[in-house]
Amino acid sequence: MGGLIPAAVLIADALSGQLGANPIQRATLQTGLLTLALLVLSLACTPLRLLTGWTWPARIRKALGLLAFGYGVLHFVIYLLDHSFDLTLMTEDVLKRPFITAGFTALLLLVPLALTSTPHAVKRLGFQRWTRLHQLAYVAVSLGALHYYWGVKKDHTPPLISAAVIATLFLIRFLKRRPTRPGTRAAKV
Ligand code: HEM
Repeated sequence: MGGLIPAAVLIADALSGQLGANPIQRATLQTGLLTLALLVLSLACTPLRLLTGWTWPARIRKALGLLAFGYGVLHFVIYLLDHSFDLTLMTEDVLKRPFITAGFTALLLLVPLALTSTPHAVKRLGFQRWTRLHQLAYVAVSLGALHYYWGVKKDHTPPLISAAVIATLFLIRFLKRRPTRPGTRAAKV
């Protein structure tokens, strides 16, 4: 429930005209940053568990991932609103601007992950296939960081910091991953 507070604040600010001179741009930036931050947090859960042995990060990982997807959809809807829901314009933008291509692909990759986030889906796909599918989250977060880097006009320090955090999380996973033997369950994503 707490994860919906930023959305509530954004709606309240929009209704009371407190989003500044360019409310659409402000809302796009806020929801984009939230999407990326939540994606990074969801991917930080496993490295945190591997480093500390704590089990609680694994319990909140799914909620963080679903919230990231929800804010990503909101971010996209605001973008569409800014383009009067003109799908031709959107398609042109996706095909012509690498910045938008990266963001759009990242969001598309999150769709199968959100759809298979239920225990039923894990059972239906089998744990190994489900794990392999959910490795798409690494590609999505990397494309999200690239989209952020390309989207920023002046100071590239914040996107570079986010890329460094993501690279560190990948490295921890790589160094701490358990070797998988045939017939055993794969290391958790
Ligand atoms: C997982 C998917 C996505 C992530 C993580 C993401 C992340 C971000 C971030 C962090 C920003 C802020 C950049 C800044 O501070 O200047 C941003 C801005 C933006 N994003 Fe995304 N985004 C995603 C998907 C999309 C999609 C699907 C679209 C549209 C098709 C899109 C369009 C935009 C636009 C237009 C901006 C604003 C650029 C500006 O006005 O300066 N994003 N996004």
